Amino acid sequence: MAVTRQSGFDDPFYQPADQFFPANSKIGLTFDDITLATLYSDILPRDTQLDTRLAENLHLNIPVISSDMDTVTESRMAIAMAANGGLGLIHYNMPERLQLSEVSRVKNHVHGLIQEPITVAPDQLIGDVLKIIEERKFAFGTFPVVDGKGRLVGLLSGHVVKPRYAKRKVADALTPRAQVHTIRQKELGKDPISRADKFFTEHLGIHKLLVVDDQDKLRGLFTMSDIERIAQERNAQFKPARDANFHLICGAAVSTTRNAFGELDRERILNHVGALVERGVDAVAVSTAHGHSKGVGDTVKVLRDAFSKLPIIAGNVTSAAGVEYLADCGANAIKVGQGPGSICTTRIVAGVGIPQMTALYVSSRAAAKKKVAVLADGGITKSGDIIKALTLAQAVICGGIFAGCNEAPGDVVEIGGKLYKQYRGMGSLAAMKSGSAARYGQPANPTQKVAAEGIEALKEACGSVDRVLAQLIGGIQSGMGYLGAANLAQLREKARFIRVSPAGMREAAPHDVVELKTGN
Ligand code: XMP
Repeated sequence: MAVTRQSGFDDPFYQPADQFFPANSKIGLTFDDITLATLYSDILPRDTQLDTRLAENLHLNIPVISSDMDTVTESRMAIAMAANGGLGLIHYNMPERLQLSEVSRVKNHVHGLIQEPITVAPDQLIGDVLKIIEERKFAFGTFPVVDGKGRLVGLLSGHVVKPRYAKRKVADALTPRAQVHTIRQKELGKDPISRADKFFTEHLGIHKLLVVDDQDKLRGLFTMSDIERIAQERNAQFKPARDANFHLICGAAVSTTRNAFGELDRERILNHVGALVERGVDAVAVSTAHGHSKGVGDTVKVLRDAFSKLPIIAGNVTSAAGVEYLADCGANAIKVGQGPGSICTTRIVAGVGIPQMTALYVSSRAAAKKKVAVLADGGITKSGDIIKALTLAQAVICGGIFAGCNEAPGDVVEIGGKLYKQYRGMGSLAAMKSGSAARYGQPANPTQKVAAEGIEALKEACGSVDRVLAQLIGGIQSGMGYLGAANLAQLREKARFIRVSPAGMREAAPHDVVELKTGN
């Protein structure tokens, strides 16, 4: 039956990448310039697989990475990304020792274990505890009680944290240590969630399990509701991205650090990456605005020689020559994108950069030959952009989409009744002053005289990463269903493209209605 291929009438209009992009070689195209044609499908969106391989030992369960920017990815974001099957790249606008501890936080994170529970002291009053709950808006009222040395003294149950007992001391109201259910940290084993799950099944009516070390110091807290939620998530389609030891995966960005003579500081770079590797980092990203450059190539070579198995991401480039260069230096995955980002001004300031779909096509063809992966970095504002990028790339890197999430660094600010978070380009003057100047080839202490290549902006607060990713994943799966693609390799193989006119673009968005509610 001929149902799985196009009719001959379609062929001149809806073309595969290798026909479409060369035929449009005189113009740079980006996401909104093109659309994908539907194809015969026997694939339901919910049955599509989204796993992707970026290096021999770097696999993601969803093809989405959060950007190494100081208003996007620190440990909280990286934990949320990996827990959803993706990857977070911890930025380098912080002292190296802080970046190391951010990586450790991700690698030591036990999903479901509250590692630093809020505690109270025995000599506090119940009234003080009520005040803390009110001030910090805690949604819970049960607290472990510890002494000055962090040793467990008891558990203050929510049943006694009541205004009528406000004048009583915590010490008089707590459940004493001997009656509190605990488990030793070293007994948690490789799968702490299953261990905690078993405990709650065996102990009728107990909702809290405290983790202690050999000195009886408090090391964590499991709650039954968290464990039940996680047990449900285990049946979810996209599992957390973990390493061989069951730890969440984590990436970290590194700079092409130079010494006082302007030469690449090989020793410092090696020490830094060596320490990251010791902490268990799963990939490093040599992140700069111009990846097709000696500094980036030499850094990648130094790292490849020293760490033969470490997945190395490098960029950014927009040409086949750039991809070939970084692949030959030893990179496994190449970031593609110069100037598409929502906070980027590189194209305006420097006059360089290539619209993203054209850049991705050219790069992807060189990458396939060199057997390296392509990461589509920047300019993604909706799930439709992601599916278009994935017709050419193995994964996408997003900044703006996640910058308004609870897990992004920075506080929420209220302006005119709306909630926002700060989002700034790593090439903005403020970010360069905080450490990212080398990424843009600028001196370490940039002044007003330096031409910034990014702006400082705000993103509307948009809730949790879980929620945002659920929407994005739903969109990607829907796109794959329309193309009859069961997995990302089939998506890349099957995609057929056509250009869109300005009127076609207007037609694609809601029009001629008064919008009451957005899609989600
Ligand atoms: P989105 O569109 O997801 O883009 O917000 C994030 C990506 O933009 C890049 N980036 C910059 N590019 N000037 C630039 O030209 C900048 O200041 C800047 N800061 C980040 C980076 O590749 C990021 O992943």
